[in-house]
Amino acid sequence: MARTKTSYVCQSCRAVAPRWQGRCEACGEWNTIVEEIVDSGVGAGPKAATASGRAIQLVPLAGETESAARVETGLGELDRVTGGGFVIGSAVLVGGDPGIGKSTLLLQAAAALADRGQRVVYISGEEAVAQVRLRAQRLGLGGSAVSLASETNVEIILSTLQQGPTPHLVIIDSIQTLWTDRVDSAPGTVTQVRTSAQALTRFAKKSGAAVVLVGHVTKDGQIAGPRVVEHMVDAVLYFEGDSSHTFRILRGVKNRYGATDEIGVFEMTALGLQEVSNPSALFLDQRDEGAAGSAVFAGMEGTRPVLCEIQALVAPSPLGTPRRAVVGWDAARLSMVLAVLESRCGVRIGANDIYLNVAGGLKIAEPAADLAVAAALISSLSGAPLPPDTVYFGEISLAGGVRPVVHAALRLREAQKLGFKAAVTGRLGAGDKASGLRIGEYTELAELIGRIAARGQRAAAE
Ligand code: TYD
Ligand code: MG
Repeated sequence: MARTKTSYVCQSCRAVAPRWQGRCEACGEWNTIVEEIVDSGVGAGPKAATASGRAIQLVPLAGETESAARVETGLGELDRVTGGGFVIGSAVLVGGDPGIGKSTLLLQAAAALADRGQRVVYISGEEAVAQVRLRAQRLGLGGSAVSLASETNVEIILSTLQQGPTPHLVIIDSIQTLWTDRVDSAPGTVTQVRTSAQALTRFAKKSGAAVVLVGHVTKDGQIAGPRVVEHMVDAVLYFEGDSSHTFRILRGVKNRYGATDEIGVFEMTALGLQEVSNPSALFLDQRDEGAAGSAVFAGMEGTRPVLCEIQALVAPSPLGTPRRAVVGWDAARLSMVLAVLESRCGVRIGANDIYLNVAGGLKIAEPAADLAVAAALISSLSGAPLPPDTVYFGEISLAGGVRPVVHAALRLREAQKLGFKAAVTGRLGAGDKASGLRIGEYTELAELIGRIAARGQRAAAE
């Protein structure tokens, strides 16, 4: 029979001592020496490999698995972003600027779930119980069976959650306010945030509750917290918007259980967040139809087509260095379009002040907006309004060509749905043309510019 042998190992430097002692002679640390069992003698060879850890069984990649069980909140736009509801036993981070509406959104989700008979716990570390109740009453959710508490200590929160039946959904608002006894640093520091998030993520996995952590993020992710939590959680959603506009976008940036290219659109009203199922109608509301310098861009947000208005103002500049101001689009991209107009299409535009604005406060990141931007610029420069029933999309190359972009069919269908009659774009694939719109396909930007300018001259002659 194998003889069990023990040795005394320093947990700090792994030095082995002949007997127990209070101080490790190798590294000088106190109270780090612990008695550990080591195998020796008969059979020490193969067994030695298993001494440090339990062996696990390796399985093939192919195999039967159940699809993840989810709790659907009933808020359609939220469920769309999570991929059909929060996954049981997963941890989700909802980040966003302070005041954007995270607490409001999650309180509404909590109430909607509770109304469907699910157990929901809402723990607020920022607001007192009375404040949360008041908000719920204002939102007309005062009667919902959400269990509420105001607490910031992780150990107390965990022991509270472990009492009674496991909740389906736990909301922690916010992760920055939590602190745990296990580390000494102050609440809100990276160590506290990370340790607290770890404990709550482990709770989610063990108990099968879906845990939502709220985190404040500044635009550049400066404040300690959510960025370090992103690696630990299963899904990360960002709630964005502009506090001067009413719409808010919930965007999935990481999702271990689904796609990340979905967005949910909400509108902040006096009665809380309302779902917007047709965002294009929201962004095209109150469009300056007859004005020069306005073009409708058929864009995509994730897998969803979103139409919006791009406004340009080109005005003679009194300054030596003309002014450029861009809201909602990339300023470097504007410079590129201007350079292409100037040097490839012969448009004298560079000496003007140029202002570009995406109406409604939307932020566009797609190169597909190039064509709409160019059209708006030329329209403003020549004083010729663009036809109000036309949408524009296409990427402009440095050589002055118009490139086709992805999802043309989806963009066209959305435009048709909203009553547009024509589209101007690059060359389309065969499958993309089957919509009822008149389609102007351009391979050269100069061609399109000639058309727009001719319209202006015609208008001037009449
Ligand atoms: P809140 O959910 O507290 O933001 P966060 O938790 O992200 O910090 O929302 C704050 C803003 O929302 C606040 O400025 C007021 C506005 N709001 C409304 O316009 N309507 C409402 O019904 C509610 C509850 C808030
Ligand atoms: Mg809040």
